[in-house]
Amino acid sequence: MTQLPGLLDTEAIRKDFPVLDRLVHDDRKLVYLDNAATSQKPRQVLDALSEYYERYNANVHRGVHVLAEEATALYEGARDKVAAFINAPSRDEVIFTKNASESLNLVANMLGWADEPYRVDHETEIVITEMEHHSNIVPWQLLAQRTGAKLKWFGLTDDGRLDLSRIDEIITEKTKIVSFVLVSNILGTVNPVEAIVRRAQEVGALVCVDASQAAPHMPLDVQALQADFVAFTGHKMCGPTGIGVLWGRQELLEDLPPFLGGGEMIETVSMHSSTYAPAPHKFEAGTPPIAQAVGLGAAIDYLGSIGMDRILAHEHALTEYAVKRLAEVPDLRIIGPTTAEDRGAAISFTLGDIHPHDVGQVLDEQGIAVRVGHHCARPVCLRYGIPATTRASFYLYSTPAEIDALVEGLEHVRNFFG
Ligand code: ALA
Repeated sequence: MTQLPGLLDTEAIRKDFPVLDRLVHDDRKLVYLDNAATSQKPRQVLDALSEYYERYNANVHRGVHVLAEEATALYEGARDKVAAFINAPSRDEVIFTKNASESLNLVANMLGWADEPYRVDHETEIVITEMEHHSNIVPWQLLAQRTGAKLKWFGLTDDGRLDLSRIDEIITEKTKIVSFVLVSNILGTVNPVEAIVRRAQEVGALVCVDASQAAPHMPLDVQALQADFVAFTGHKMCGPTGIGVLWGRQELLEDLPPFLGGGEMIETVSMHSSTYAPAPHKFEAGTPPIAQAVGLGAAIDYLGSIGMDRILAHEHALTEYAVKRLAEVPDLRIIGPTTAEDRGAAISFTLGDIHPHDVGQVLDEQGIAVRVGHHCARPVCLRYGIPATTRASFYLYSTPAEIDALVEGLEHVRNFFG
């Protein structure tokens, strides 16, 4: 078995993930390399979810009965865990949403309805990048269309990095918000947050960071990032689907208007007008994703028991190995950085002129799960003149043997298509 420095004890970790024992296509051992799309869930999270429904299920912040109080304590306890996980100065800065897309849409809508000095209007500019997931493009396009604001973006270099050479022309005195991804889901690139934040602060623009592909894989410290908003999702970090997070700086959350109205986000309501509860409740209208938050809390406990530094080191070792092994496959072209130094553990590639959907299908027949397509980042494919990519992405339970299986599988794909 290939041993690499920094690897976790995957034999022990894999025992926590029941699905990893599955066979597919009758007798094929599952090789799950689609972790950037969603991670698998450990027994500890599955147990927390069923325990919640078996023992505590009730609506939160509403009842005076025992179950309601216990469910509220569990839900708010999950908020404490998220706050500690991202080193938030206050638990009240953690808003639960249903996913990262909702978190990003929430920021766009807060700014669309805000008063000065935050309001985005026809005299202002919004800055994003060409490597965003559609969830960090479309909300800003909608906001620009509705307000008349100008949408600008950083382009990409040939090797899959942000082209910041014109940063002073792109982020200007007119910029209200700069929203960008920390780790690209398609290219794997880790972006230079500091340089972007510095320029945004110079002109007084707000900064929103999409950390969906970072939070599961590395220590995330919102104070060190110096952003104003950070969005991520639970299901990519061993948690359930249906739970996302928006962290926002407290004074902003106090000043900015709510987006969704409904129960539990109010202070008082009359037929003429309403006043709102303080953040985070102001932004959590209706019954929230209670069990999902509890599951996310259990996922955070699980990741914490292993250690985010160690998870990062494990994935770095795997990525280094994968980049080296994939270079042995003839006609394979990595789309994105080709060294492990400044990239995450999602690697996109093309294989000669074999269509990625064909690559994915032949790999699947061998039990190897990858994602194919534009990965909800179509502008990246347009930039590099390709219709789609095949993407392999790793997590804390991934092994060098699975990378070897991928490389063998790709040889099989090449033979199959002649
Ligand atoms: N955003 C997820 C991905 O990159 C779904 O696959």
